[in-house]
Amino acid sequence: MQLPNIKDARKRTKEEVKHIYLDQHYDQDMFKNKKYFLRTYGCQMNVHDGEEIAARLESLGFTPTDTIEDSDVVILNTCAIRENAHDKLYGFLGRCKHEKEKNNKDLIIGICGCMAQEEGVVNDLIKNHPYVDIVFGTHNIHELQDLLINKHSKQNIEVYSCEGNVYENIPYKRESNIKAWVNIQYGCDKFCTYCIVPYTRGKQRSRKSNEIIKEVECLVKNGYKEVTLLGQNVNAYGKDIEDLSFAELLEKVSDTGIERVRFVTSHPWDFTDDMINIIAERDNIMPYIHLPLQSGSTNILKLMGRRYTKEEYLELFKKIKNTIKNCSITTDIIVGFPNETDEDFEETLNVVNECKFDSAFTFIYSPREGTPAAKMEDKIDMKTKEERLAKLNEIVNKYSLEANKKYLNKTVPVLIEGISEKDPNKLFGYTDTMKLVNVIGNKNLIGQIVNVLITDAKSFSLDGEVK
Ligand code: 5AD
Ligand code: SF4
Repeated sequence: MQLPNIKDARKRTKEEVKHIYLDQHYDQDMFKNKKYFLRTYGCQMNVHDGEEIAARLESLGFTPTDTIEDSDVVILNTCAIRENAHDKLYGFLGRCKHEKEKNNKDLIIGICGCMAQEEGVVNDLIKNHPYVDIVFGTHNIHELQDLLINKHSKQNIEVYSCEGNVYENIPYKRESNIKAWVNIQYGCDKFCTYCIVPYTRGKQRSRKSNEIIKEVECLVKNGYKEVTLLGQNVNAYGKDIEDLSFAELLEKVSDTGIERVRFVTSHPWDFTDDMINIIAERDNIMPYIHLPLQSGSTNILKLMGRRYTKEEYLELFKKIKNTIKNCSITTDIIVGFPNETDEDFEETLNVVNECKFDSAFTFIYSPREGTPAAKMEDKIDMKTKEERLAKLNEIVNKYSLEANKKYLNKTVPVLIEGISEKDPNKLFGYTDTMKLVNVIGNKNLIGQIVNVLITDAKSFSLDGEVK
C-alpha cells in the first residue's frame, strides 16, 4: 500500500522522470462476460484518462454498461479542483455500497483520478469505506489491469506520492472517431496558490515531440479530422526536456495535415509571439484560445501567484486579437479569492467589459487543503461571493450572446460531430472558433467540415442550416 503525500508531490528532479515505452499484453478472455461502469468528472485531462481506463478494462474482456446495478466493476475517476467534487465522490460511494451490500457482494469498487492523490481522501477511504476495493492515482493508471488481476480480499491502495514517468504506447478507447485528445505534457509547474493540480498531477513532464507527432500522424491515417493538444499549461511545453518549443510543436502538428488543431490550456505567462504568429499563419490551427484570466485585479493576481498584471494580460489579449484574424478568446475567472475587495472585483468586471470574452467559466474560490491560499485568512462572507458570481455571470452571458450574434446570417465552416442531444432531428458541430452549432442537415455529413448558414444565435449555441 502506498499513501499519497502532498509534500512529496513535486519531489522528483527532471532527470529522475523517465520516458517509458509500455509493452503490456493481457488475456482478453480473463473477464469475458463481465461488465464495467465508468464515471469521469472534471477537466479534459480526466476525460482523456477515462479513455485510457476504458481501454484497459476492455483489454481484459470487460464490456461497458450504463448502470451500477448491471456491473461487475465500477470505477469513479474523480476531480479535486473544487470542494463540490467531494460531494460527488461520497454520493457515488453511497450508491455503490448499497448495491454491494444488498445485491452484488462481488462488485469491485475502484476510485481513481485527482482525489485519489489526496492524502486526506485516501485516509478516509481506508478508515470509513473499507468496501472500496482498489484505489489508484493519476500516475499509475497503467497498473489498472494488474490491480484487477491480482485483486485480493483486502483494500488495495496503489498511489504514487511523487509525480510519475512519461509513458508511451498507452491504449485509448477514444470517445469519438472524428476528434481526439492528445496529451503533450503531464502536471504543472506554475503552482498558482489556489490550485491543487501541481500536487495531484505532479510537476510538468513533457512528452517527446516525435512521439506526439507519431500519434497525430496515426490519427490522421485513421480519418480523424481534429486533434486537441492537452496539457495544464501547454505553452510551457518542452521547457522540462530538450525538445521543441510549443510554437515549434504546433507547426509540426499542423504539418501532419490534420484538418483542425486545437490546444488547451494556455497560461498567459508562457504565451509567446512565435505562438501567436504560427496560429495566425496556419489555416489548420484554429483561431480559438482559452486564456484564463482568473482575476482582473493585479493585487489578487499577485496573491494568486499568476505572474502577470492586469495590464500585461490586456496587452497579450490585444496582441492576439490584432494578429489572429477572427480569434475567439474564452477565459476562466475566480471570484471571492481570500480578501478580494469590492474594488478588486470591480477591476475584474472592467477587464471583462474591455475584453468581451466569447465565453467564460466562472467559479467561486474554493480552498483546497495543502495549497498556500487555503492558509490565507479570509474575511469575505459567502453571500458576498455569491452576489459577485451572479453579477459576473450576467455580464459574461451578455457578451457571449453579443459574440454569437455576430455570426447571424453568415456562412461558416462547421465540423459536424454527431446527432444533437437536444433535438434528434438535428446535427451538432463546432465552428473553427469553437462555437457549438445545431444544424439542420443530413446524417451522412457527420465527420465532415461543411458550410453552415447561421440562422439564430443564443448565449451558448448557434442554430444553422447546411448550405
Ligand atoms: N477554486 C475555484 N476555482 C478554481 N480553479 C482552480 N482551482 C480553483 C479553486 N481552488 C479554476 C481556475 C482554473 C479552472 C480549471 O478551475 O479558474 O483555470
Ligand atoms: Fe493550476 Fe495554475 Fe497550473 Fe493552471 S497554471 S493547473 S491554475 S497551477
